[in-house]
Amino acid sequence: MATPRPDLRIEALASHHDRDGFSCGVDSLDRYLRTQASQDVRRKANGVFILVEPDKPDVVLGYYTLCATGVAQGDVPAAARKHIPRYPLVSATLVGRLAVSEARQGERLGAMLLADAVRRAYASAATVGSSMLVVDAINERAAAFYEGNGFVRLPDSLRLVLPMQAIQRLVEP
Ligand SMILES: CC(C)(COP(=O)(O)OP(=O)(O)OC[C@H]1O[C@@H](n2cnc3c(N)ncnc32)[C@H](O)[C@@H]1OP(=O)(O)O)[C@@H](O)C(=O)NCCC(=O)NCCS
Repeated sequence: MATPRPDLRIEALASHHDRDGFSCGVDSLDRYLRTQASQDVRRKANGVFILVEPDKPDVVLGYYTLCATGVAQGDVPAAARKHIPRYPLVSATLVGRLAVSEARQGERLGAMLLADAVRRAYASAATVGSSMLVVDAINERAAAFYEGNGFVRLPDSLRLVLPMQAIQRLVEP
């Protein structure tokens, strides 16, 4: 799992962040940050977390969102099932969106954002239970990014999961 870097900071979305200046190459993800993210934060629909360099605190290098969700037992991949309770609907945390500025892609910033999402979701699961982290990849390339970061793919789907028990081994070795 990517480790935090002293030259970068990940913080909750605030009014000083330049949401209009962000472009990751996927219009829906740019538009979400521009038009919807602040309202989601106000309504507690999503947590939105922003990657910045401390000396340019307004420039958004990337972002991700987290919210509560549920996954049907039958949708849990076999490889993850032994870590998951046998409830019909399993509690989970969704990384609904994750994006890195187009100019900065390929520098492992996405891996760093994902590691922060993993740590944050794991910490919050101690208060509001959650058996796994879930992502819906936007395409095959994004799915490969999540698989490369330890997520297990559901068959015939762009959905991937990472059980909290597996995360425990990563964050509490
Ligand atoms: C997917 C994304 C978040 C990855 O962030 P990143 O900082 O570029 O990724 P990292 O440097 O940590 O890792 C690179 C890996 O990401 C994957 N990747 C997916 N899309 C990519 C892209 N457009 N550019 C570079 N790498 C990409 C590749 O598997 C790559 O691995 P490789 O180097 O072996 O080819 C970022 O490329 C992005 O924002 N893309 C557009 C929006 C998007 O697709 N978001 C995912 C929503 S589900």
